[in-house]
Amino acid sequence: MNKSYQRFLERKTNRLAQYSAEYYEKQHQRGKLTASERINFLFDKDTFEETDAFNPPANTSFGKKNVDYPGDGVITGFGKINGRQVFAFAQDFNVMGGSLGSVHAAKIVKIQDLALQTGSPIVGLIDSGGARIQEGISSLEAYGNIFKRNVISSGVIPQISVIMGPAAGGAVYSPALTDFIFMTASTSYMFVTGPNVIKEVLNETVSVEDLGGASVHGERTGVADFVYNDDENTLLGVKKLLSYLPSNNLENPPLIENNDPIQRSEERLRDIVPEDSDKSYDVREIIKLLVDKEDYFEVGENHATSIITAFSRMGGQAVGLIANQPKVMAGALDKKSAVKAARFISICDSFNIPIITLQDVPGFLPGVNQEYGKIIRHGAKLLYSYVEATVPKITVILRKSYGGAYIVMNSKGIGGDFNFAWPTAEIAVMGPDGAIAILYRKDLAAAENPAALKKELTQKYRDEVANPYIADEKGFIDEVIDPAETRAKIINCLKVLKRKVDLRPKRKHGNVPY
Ligand code: HXC
Repeated sequence: MNKSYQRFLERKTNRLAQYSAEYYEKQHQRGKLTASERINFLFDKDTFEETDAFNPPANTSFGKKNVDYPGDGVITGFGKINGRQVFAFAQDFNVMGGSLGSVHAAKIVKIQDLALQTGSPIVGLIDSGGARIQEGISSLEAYGNIFKRNVISSGVIPQISVIMGPAAGGAVYSPALTDFIFMTASTSYMFVTGPNVIKEVLNETVSVEDLGGASVHGERTGVADFVYNDDENTLLGVKKLLSYLPSNNLENPPLIENNDPIQRSEERLRDIVPEDSDKSYDVREIIKLLVDKEDYFEVGENHATSIITAFSRMGGQAVGLIANQPKVMAGALDKKSAVKAARFISICDSFNIPIITLQDVPGFLPGVNQEYGKIIRHGAKLLYSYVEATVPKITVILRKSYGGAYIVMNSKGIGGDFNFAWPTAEIAVMGPDGAIAILYRKDLAAAENPAALKKELTQKYRDEVANPYIADEKGFIDEVIDPAETRAKIINCLKVLKRKVDLRPKRKHGNVPY
């Protein structure tokens, strides 16, 4: 064997030897896979190629030496996921708490650049105590380099962050700039400042879980889009999400053929929406009858649950679904649901995914809390995202469609391409109760039997005002359709809209109502 080849082999062996049994054991005891196990699980077998495996950590100060693991606590590289090219990095909590030093960051930056230049998605597996303290300012600057690339890549390539351990300090801001965040329940948490700092500065005591655990971010803040109970299921979720996304903004999502008939008629759809509009139902029942069988992937499932956002396929084509959920707050829009839907629309639009809106919405949730909580701006965000989106946009009004919510939820006026209504649709400025109270206040006060008069006026309002046929005649909706035929209608419209071109005036960028 010649000398140079021997040296090559020795170096390779040393690199592999860093992973002792103890190394694996430490991470497994925490209920987590190691960085390399995660990478192997995520990528198709034997497709992952590591970059910069041998880079040693930088020099440090503060009497604290960097641990001498080649690779500086992060695995970076590229490979195939379900046959498609993806870049990834996985932080190694076993090496200085997965903290981000300058070499560690430079490795991430290198694959961020490659992912962008090759139009490939990038997945970050985060398990990190944030900026590496002993590297001082260098590690802060290094985060800046990553954040800059997150922003420049936004809307160009899908960026997915997976929180699989701590994400503290700087470690939360890169995920926050990406398109989707996964969290692994019980082993992951995210916060800008941790419990120790909070105790010191504010003298408040809070646990890691209560401050930034998966339930906090999956339910309360909505920062996490997906929560799974362990590493394996979280990574399976990432693979599933990627299947709905194109590799970049110049491509369409992959068409995944299936044998669910396009023309499948569903008579059950005629009966799910109760005639009594005070009664609720689960809009998921409707969605699941419309979309390709077994193809449903909800985003933000436990946050702002009066609206549903989900990926699915119809006729094999990926679609983004936005549906009011009458089961929760009667489907009313509030500040959180408006932002949740706005963000989802924006992501769908950037990645050429058509948007289908299922509407049953009584209006915006009234209240001081909502007004003080900036519902004006948050509601405007939803409106803004719909108008800004140039992908095909189809609306089906299932039942209530009142006031501002009618306009905001992809009405014809703001740019809906095809707007349909079911016979159960109630479209008007407001619901019968509000309308009668305003217009017939004096008559009701003077009536011998106000309840009977109200009942009569309610029926008259439904017959003459709040029905789909007026909107149909005025062209504000394209057709009142048989609910059973909705699937075929939507898929046909998607085909027609494949050729849609929607050019806008040139500008640097619009100003989203933040
Ligand atoms: C260097 C770090 C580190 C860090 C952890 N370690 N965080 N080393 N820099 N930021 C090291 C520890 O010293 C320890 O080394 C090993 O990683 C494991 O950490 P433990 O504390 O033993 O683990 P655990 O008890 O599980 O606690 C994990 C943790 C905690 C919650 C993440 O380590 C922690 O609070 N770290 C600091 C988090 C933080 O405040 N980061 C913000 C940095 S400032 P040994 O040798 O003992 O095994 C920042 C600013 C950027 O990021 C802002 C941009 C907007």
